[in-house]
Amino acid sequence: MTTSVRIDAQGNQHSTDEQERQDYVFDSLWDKESERLRTNEAIWDPGTFERFEALGTSPGWHCLEIGAGSGSAARALAELVGPEGRVVAADLETVRLVADEQRGAFDVWELDLREDELPPDTFDLVHARMLVQHLPDREAVIAKLVSTLKPGGLLFLEDTDSSTLFRSASGEDFLQDVRAAGYGLMREAGHDPRGGHVDYHLALSSGLTDVSAEGRVVMVRGGSVQARHYQLWLEFMAPQIVAEGLVTRERIDEAIAEMGDPAHSWLSQVLISTVGRKPIQD
Ligand SMILES: C[S@@+](CC[C@H](N)C(=O)[O-])C[C@H]1O[C@@H](n2cnc3c(N)ncnc32)[C@H](O)[C@@H]1O
Repeated sequence: MTTSVRIDAQGNQHSTDEQERQDYVFDSLWDKESERLRTNEAIWDPGTFERFEALGTSPGWHCLEIGAGSGSAARALAELVGPEGRVVAADLETVRLVADEQRGAFDVWELDLREDELPPDTFDLVHARMLVQHLPDREAVIAKLVSTLKPGGLLFLEDTDSSTLFRSASGEDFLQDVRAAGYGLMREAGHDPRGGHVDYHLALSSGLTDVSAEGRVVMVRGGSVQARHYQLWLEFMAPQIVAEGLVTRERIDEAIAEMGDPAHSWLSQVLISTVGRKPIQD
């Protein structure tokens, strides 16, 4: 068995076998991802929940929250549809949703939207936030989401346009170096920095009616829970950014400190909300 040394958050060293070390690395990555999901919810949930209400989400509706993450949107939908309605929270990773399922808040489906089928004509509302823009065959994905809607049901997609990110009174170039480095790498990995625009165009060409779209931008204060999301994003991207020689580790640390400083504030990405209705066949 391999023996190694682990250093905890206080800087103390611990001898540990290889399995324990791997468990520790996995746990801290898992915790970081959970925090990333929760801080992302802190940025976007208020606007998403307002739109759920504006769309008329009501007691008795059947809703699918796809790419549910840690479940805040599914919980909000469950409140709106009440006990006579039904919410399904679906994701590749469902461990974060199990406690809600156990207390009866909503059903959980573990699935891969790229591969798995969805039941036809089932839901009054299908919502996906920051999911479609990460997937390769968006046209097929949107066709699948439309097919699982009941006739007359609503598709509600939310994806970003990253052009506003880090615009700030602090200066024209505030955090623009780390933004360019991080988004350049994400684009190479398949992320579309204009995913919200793609949603709108695919909704228009997918047979939906009453298609509309609008965007919202959030002002983020340094040191807030919302700012923490951007710190976690940069920490996550840092090893690759530094390995590619795009930005130094020292500059990354400086940028993370700037994001923690309440003297700074900046704009988020634009989150584009696209809504369309599945036609009622006669
Ligand atoms: C960026 S997170 C957004 C989470 C949540 N929608 C939110 O906005 O708070 C993307 C989520 O989609 C899930 N996901 C990614 N690819 C997926 C796929 N092919 N099928 C189902 N879920 C997927 C991830 O596991 C993750 O929970």
